[in-house]
Amino acid sequence: MRRLRRSLAAKLLAAQALVIVAGSVTLALVALAVAPGLFHEHVRDALGVVPEDVSRHLDEAFNDSVLFALGIAIAAATLTAAAVSWFLSVRIVRPIARLAVAAERIAHGSYGERVSVTGSDELAVLASAFNDMAAALESAELRRRQLLSDLAHELRTPLATIDGYLEGVRDGVVPASAETWAVLETESGRVRRLVADLQKVSRAEERQLDLRVRSVTVATIVDAAVAAAEPAYASKDVRLETLVSGRLPKLAVDPDRIGEVLGNLLDNALRHTPQGGSVEIRAERHGDDVALTIADTGEGIAPEHLDRVFERFYRVDSGRTRDRGGSGIGLAIARALVEAHGGRVHAESDGPGMGARFVVSLPMEGQSPRFGT
Ligand SMILES: Nc1ncnc2c1ncn2[C@@H]1O[C@H](COP(=O)(O)OP(=O)(O)OP(=O)(O)O)[C@@H](O)[C@H]1O
Ligand SMILES: [Mg+2]
Repeated sequence: MRRLRRSLAAKLLAAQALVIVAGSVTLALVALAVAPGLFHEHVRDALGVVPEDVSRHLDEAFNDSVLFALGIAIAAATLTAAAVSWFLSVRIVRPIARLAVAAERIAHGSYGERVSVTGSDELAVLASAFNDMAAALESAELRRRQLLSDLAHELRTPLATIDGYLEGVRDGVVPASAETWAVLETESGRVRRLVADLQKVSRAEERQLDLRVRSVTVATIVDAAVAAAEPAYASKDVRLETLVSGRLPKLAVDPDRIGEVLGNLLDNALRHTPQGGSVEIRAERHGDDVALTIADTGEGIAPEHLDRVFERFYRVDSGRTRDRGGSGIGLAIARALVEAHGGRVHAESDGPGMGARFVVSLPMEGQSPRFGT
């Protein structure tokens, strides 16, 4: 980095030296070519014909004063150039060198690296954009680490059970009965589901899903999701109501994927709503979007968790939810699938005990989806 600073500062100085040399040479040439003639003319006009030795004296005096003036001018220009180079080096080259050092440190894994932002010029804008980028990298790295440790944690439990049973059967302590196989199958199924879920989120997030988009009515999608969820609702005695407003625009979506999103949301709503409660699935138009809302009368979500429930492996009450079979990936899949369609999903709740609402907004058919951001 020091090399960068030196070479940039040297280039600045060299550029200015070039200007000074060109200026001085031009000045000297003009002074030599024009000034003596003009001087002699003026002497002749003022004094008439002067004796030879006086003329030589006058010439010498004139040449000395021109040379002296030229020398002073070159010295002043050189000093100014040096001062300007130093100033530019401090104001431009040093901040750039600092940015380069910070970028190099980040490239080697020091994600906490930041640069100071002073003033409001283009360099300050660059420094502040650099800091934003560093912060984004730092949080991505944090999420990656969290994800790995969560994944290890999720895999440990079923694998420990499988290991324990296999060891027990081998040592003759656990009978190789149908019950044992059933436990082993359940646990290996958990691992398989986890891997499949993670793969689905990754593929949806990387837009690698093969979406079979077609034109469908909202009622078709909602009815299919409700029909699939009804038996589970009936067995827990939770009421499931549908409210689809008439004359809704059609959607251009993959009905299976959006069906899966609604299935996940209905499954969550049922899981978090006590017996005797109710869940409503509503569809209405909001501007150019169709909003599908799944509202329950269950345990609700505290405000600080509303955004985080969409993160992979995030559970509000991990101990309790894990017992109920959740691994915390359902909403991450739902968000990735909705965003792959150019839509949005968010959670609302008036707090614990007040029920929760999950709103899926999808652009109506013919409307350009908002991918990204
Ligand atoms: N309707 C709801 N009411 C209250 N809390 C909810 C509701 N839906 C989701 N949550 C909270 O959000 C967390 C994340 O939900 P998500 O669907 O991602 O995972 P999960 O249901 O625990 O497991 P999975 O869906 O992978 O089987 C849940 O563990 C729960 O704490
Ligand atoms: Mg879920």
